[in-house]
Amino acid sequence: MVDIKKSWDKIAEHYNNRYEISCEVVHYGPLCPGEDKLGLLGDIKGKRVVDLGCGGGQNAVALAKMGAEVTGLDLSTEQINRAQMLAAEHKVSISFRQADISSIPFIENHSFDIAISACSIAFLDKIDTVFREVYRILKPKGWFILSDMNPLQYLLDETEDGVVFNNPYRQQSLPINWSWEFEELEKSPRFRHYVRMISDYVNSLIDAGFIIKKILEPESTLNTPHAGFSREIMEEYPYIAKHIPITFVIVCEKV
Ligand SMILES: C[S@@+](CC[C@H](N)C(=O)[O-])C[C@H]1O[C@@H](n2cnc3c(N)ncnc32)[C@H](O)[C@@H]1O
Repeated sequence: MVDIKKSWDKIAEHYNNRYEISCEVVHYGPLCPGEDKLGLLGDIKGKRVVDLGCGGGQNAVALAKMGAEVTGLDLSTEQINRAQMLAAEHKVSISFRQADISSIPFIENHSFDIAISACSIAFLDKIDTVFREVYRILKPKGWFILSDMNPLQYLLDETEDGVVFNNPYRQQSLPINWSWEFEELEKSPRFRHYVRMISDYVNSLIDAGFIIKKILEPESTLNTPHAGFSREIMEEYPYIAKHIPITFVIVCEKV
């Protein structure tokens, strides 16, 4: 049985120590250029921004440093604790709350100018529900910037014969269970990702009411604020990073 909240609670401290994620530049995912290169957000001074699945709070801190009024939500109590400590360390004021982003009734309609979510949505079983919630809490003309790991990453393996598919790439949410090893932990916590096609994300966003402004699949690079993560992925999966962009980004707007 996989309990995502418990697993994130267990690894939160070690994860944030291991990956040294930047608090200076908003990141979109491993091996992906950051906001300094992609320039998706524009001037966010005074704007209300919500970070969905904010993890240890690095993006929330970077957004606050850009002058935004930030709220961070995450399922893991330990991630939220670490995010609060990080915000205090960087002397920025951010409102953090432990919550499952599938259901956020405590947030009023039309509350935010921008919603951002990096590398969190693939942990969720049902994306339709989340995207409807994001649509609801955004102001009209509000933007949702969603990034996640390229689904092909979970489906490709390297063998003596080259890169092969270990699972088909098709239109259905495919649950993949895996363990995350940390030398500080005796037992490796179990995780589950739901692998879906990029068209599933796009169509689900359209069904929620969004218009898609841009889809980015930037070439994988080591020059990213997600430095630790990137190096590890380059070492562990060089064949994937060579062949596909590791992260994709979708920019959409509430009409
Ligand atoms: C890979 S981390 C990414 C964190 C952060 N967005 C970043 O890019 O650094 C994934 C985060 O998603 C959170 N998460 C997973 N399922 C969630 C859910 N249903 N609701 C809210 N957060 C969730 C986890 O607790 C974890 O902190």
